[in-house]
Amino acid sequence: MTNTTLINKDNKIKESFYKKVNFIDIKDIDGNDTKIEKETYENYLELQEFLKTKNIIIGIDSAYRSEQRQSELYQEFIERYGKEYADKIVAPVGTSEHHSGLAIDLALKSNNEYLDADMVHEDQEPIYKEVHKHLKDFGFILRYPEGKEHITGYPYEPWHIRYVGKFVAKIIYEKNYTLEEYLTDFSGIILVNKEKDMTSFDVVNEISHLFGIKRVGHTGTLDPLAEGVLLVAIGKATKVVELLTATYKEYIATVKLGIKTDTLDITGKVLEQNEVPNLENLDEVLNSFKKTYLQEVPIYSAVKVNGKKLYEYARNNEQVELPKKTVTIKEIELLDKTEDTFKFKTLVSKGCYIRSLINDIGNELNTYATMTELTRTKQGKVSIEETKTLKDIKNGNFKIYEIDEVLEIPVIVVDSVQEQKIRTGQKINNDYNIKEKVIFKDQNNFILGIYESKEGLLSVWKNFV
Ligand code: DAL
Ligand code: ZN
Repeated sequence: MTNTTLINKDNKIKESFYKKVNFIDIKDIDGNDTKIEKETYENYLELQEFLKTKNIIIGIDSAYRSEQRQSELYQEFIERYGKEYADKIVAPVGTSEHHSGLAIDLALKSNNEYLDADMVHEDQEPIYKEVHKHLKDFGFILRYPEGKEHITGYPYEPWHIRYVGKFVAKIIYEKNYTLEEYLTDFSGIILVNKEKDMTSFDVVNEISHLFGIKRVGHTGTLDPLAEGVLLVAIGKATKVVELLTATYKEYIATVKLGIKTDTLDITGKVLEQNEVPNLENLDEVLNSFKKTYLQEVPIYSAVKVNGKKLYEYARNNEQVELPKKTVTIKEIELLDKTEDTFKFKTLVSKGCYIRSLINDIGNELNTYATMTELTRTKQGKVSIEETKTLKDIKNGNFKIYEIDEVLEIPVIVVDSVQEQKIRTGQKINNDYNIKEKVIFKDQNNFILGIYESKEGLLSVWKNFV
């Protein structure tokens, strides 16, 4: 999380931060030796080159500062501008972003002379405004913007830029966030099209790394063999993961007959093989599965029995009784068949294992059946057509969805009286005739929370404020 590490008055830089940073030696505008983080510098050089095309010359007034240097700077500011201004503008030792090597104080060159980065000079403002417009394209943000002093703890500093990487810089710029706001408020759901050979956890890790945000969770695990719709929640949206998982899911699966593996799919060890009968009645058999039934959980799954995951029993060759779960097959349709394979589409309830369903279908067909391919084509409201691959997402080709765009729950925009009640977590009358859950939003379309119907009233299920 190096690029988005928060360093401010409440968050001192940690010793461990330095383990991950690659510093290089450079010179500042006065020719003094200094240091800076490598990627920050490379991007700075590109920014500098770009700005030349706009006839703007920038230099580095200050990049890395040791704790000792920060302390000297504070004294220098006291001498030059008085204690009041020094206290306002110079970060207390240990809390300056300059300790990280990711921050730069720019100096603008005018009439062959660099001007100090010390206070706002009105004549430089038009030039700085132009510089600020382009920062995001080089992975920088304006760290202390105007009007955000109550959040950042510092007045407007047009010269202080912070490297966060292009991906995050773009979001912060577009949403007009500070780094503090980005890390606490940025929330939403990304509709991922998971590719084969990745675990769902790999996807979560990549997204977490890309956004520089730790709070990331996925809904409804897809095995490495499977591809398709995987909803990934970021920030506060992780609070609704269980609702997203609870929805109906649609899959297209391909089956090989006459073969049985330990994992019930083609990645497993072949245990047995047998003859494939005539598949004349396949349609009929598939149709007979349109029902609610008790399905055995596959041994190669993360479901726990007596505190231990089922696949651990399998790996240790230990006996265990497989639990059964009630599942509903709402729709099932044959798409294609050969002599010993077939492909079908199905819409199933939460907790249904398609591998197990296929195994059960095999039993009805009097042969073994193994899953060879699986694509999740729908999860609740979301179809595969709306999803993006990790490659798309890395290239910035994605949309962040609000939870109400993805959940199948009514949304009500409340007036300020109701809003106050919701903000303070009070129960409210169910004048809206809500049967289960409802998303409450304020007049600005900001999600306040999810309430549930309970004993004739509506009470908090998840708070968002
Ligand atoms: N002027 C900024 C806040 C610093 O001293 O790091
Ligand atoms: Zn600075």
